[in-house]
Amino acid sequence: MREVAIIGTGLTNFGELWNQSFRNLFVEAGLEAINSAGVDHLDSMYVGTMSGGLFVGQEHVGALMADYLGQTPIPSTHVESACASGGAAFRLAFMEVASGISDIVLAGGVEKMNDGADVTYALSTAADQEYEVFQGITFPGLYAMIARAHMHKYGTTREQLAKVAVKNHYNGNRNSKAQYQMEISVDQVLGSSMVADPLRLLDCSPVTDGAAAVILCPLDMAKKFTDAPVKIIGTGQASDSIALHSREDISCIAAIERSAEQAYKMAGLQPGDIQLAEVHDCFTIAEICAMEALGFVEKGKGGKAVDAGLNALDGKIPINTSGGLKSKGHPVGATGVAQIIEIFEQLRGNAGERQIKNARIGLAQNMGGSGGSSVVHIMETV
Ligand code: COA
Repeated sequence: MREVAIIGTGLTNFGELWNQSFRNLFVEAGLEAINSAGVDHLDSMYVGTMSGGLFVGQEHVGALMADYLGQTPIPSTHVESACASGGAAFRLAFMEVASGISDIVLAGGVEKMNDGADVTYALSTAADQEYEVFQGITFPGLYAMIARAHMHKYGTTREQLAKVAVKNHYNGNRNSKAQYQMEISVDQVLGSSMVADPLRLLDCSPVTDGAAAVILCPLDMAKKFTDAPVKIIGTGQASDSIALHSREDISCIAAIERSAEQAYKMAGLQPGDIQLAEVHDCFTIAEICAMEALGFVEKGKGGKAVDAGLNALDGKIPINTSGGLKSKGHPVGATGVAQIIEIFEQLRGNAGERQIKNARIGLAQNMGGSGGSSVVHIMETV
């Protein structure tokens, strides 16, 4: 297997982008990635999108994006794993380069959620239609049950959930691409509208348009394009029942644990070696579950770790320095690739006001649904 590096990235603004179409968003991110890498061609590309069909009535996304990016006839594959589509696309691009099949591969993700679609319905198709959605559940509802289970089993408090949102908005306020560039307080979170008890508006990631893309190539070729490639040293992916009721314990997310174990093993690292992480905080409870499942803290100790500031910008393991899904936004298919870009920028020392000093090893965790799938990548400076 060849060693693989990231050599360029492209990221659109995240938000309600009424003047941008689905394809234009992808092309903007794709062209920026190609230009920043300085490559003159691509051998192959992968496009993560959760549901072009339901959000904008567009399928056959792989070929469409290759065409509008000016890349036909290269192979271009649409990858779907709900909100983990971007992470899964990145993993496939990594594997294609590592295997030696292709040298220069683009991994991207895009979603246009604000275009008149029934977003709550479209998102709910990532849950179990027969056993969950038919009964009326929504994604905030599923994560509300996870939050209640965690609070019941471990004593996690409402305030601890709120502190995750406060921290992520603090970071997002330092990210010019973020959807919500504003700081909030615990009181504001606790006073925001109830969405699904105990989760309130400010516990939820928003509905977002956006796209992200990165260029991968073999590490031994990377120096031709950049003095500062970032090496991918671990990858892992796992699945679980998509219905919550089939799981042994809904206060933890086993797919994150399994995908992380694989990535740590491949990288030859322990959780304690990770210096910063982007995790899938689609709802505040998800960041707490991810901290535990990634092994940053013991099971049940996530809430207390938030109180202690472990995941803050100046904490022991800064988490979601980009603002996370909560503040930066969550264009579902693009999220996994955008997380990789934040780690890339941090490892290169380009994260501006939110830069973590001497960051050398970072991790990105991207989740599908309420934990039916999870993808983890670990990256290191060269
Ligand atoms: N965070 C912060 N502010 C938010 C927000 C969020 N998540 N969602 C909406 N807002 C703001 C809007 O900007 C708007 O502000 P304004 O009145 O100053 O313009 C206000 O809150 C109301 O916005 P609106 O779009 O009417 O909210 P909504 O009630 O339709 O939607 C949610 C709010 C939480 C239901 C929606 O964002 C949602 O479904 N989020 C979850 C998405 C999801 O499940 N993703 C997949 C995860 S697995």
